[in-house]
Amino acid sequence: MASAIVSALHVLALALGLSGVYLRGRALKGRLDRDGLTRLFAADNAWGIAAGLWIVTGLLRAFGGLEKGSQFYLQSPLFWAKMALFVAVIILEIQPMVTFIRWRRALGRGQVPDTSRARALYVVNHIQMALVVVMVFVASFLARGFGLR
Ligand code: HEM
Repeated sequence: MASAIVSALHVLALALGLSGVYLRGRALKGRLDRDGLTRLFAADNAWGIAAGLWIVTGLLRAFGGLEKGSQFYLQSPLFWAKMALFVAVIILEIQPMVTFIRWRRALGRGQVPDTSRARALYVVNHIQMALVVVMVFVASFLARGFGLR
């Protein structure tokens, strides 16, 4: 039963994460007035929650004895490919994370944040979204034992 619940939470993280990153991109492209920023931060929150959920449920599935056992994953090149993609998504997140914290603080102080970097962040956001989509394919092949002899 634990395996089914954790698996469901892992898939729900995908629903939350993909919609969060998509809406964050749309918000970055739109007008970044107070309403636009509120939408941006809401999407960013969903994306952040999804990331936490992915890590917790992913680690539980891989190393908590819920699925095929740690050995299966550690031996699979596709598992490592998936982890490399995930690390790339996290590294790409550093710039948006730092910028959005700055924007949130400025808005909290009643100031208008300097949003001139929005276009560059939109591109980063799109790359992250693409990487997540690739991860879904890698995960599905991984789960079916592809890449193992
Ligand atoms: C962007 C992040 C992630 C995405 C989009 C993602 C996506 C998926 C998907 C779609 C599946 C279901 C595969 C299937 O049964 O067909 C899955 C399974 C799994 N994921 Fe993730 N995942 C992510 C992060 C992680 C992380 C960080 C870990 C481990 C640290 C992880 C470990 C696993 C494991 C162990 C399974 C079960 C594979 C099996 O059934 O043998 N995932 N993931």
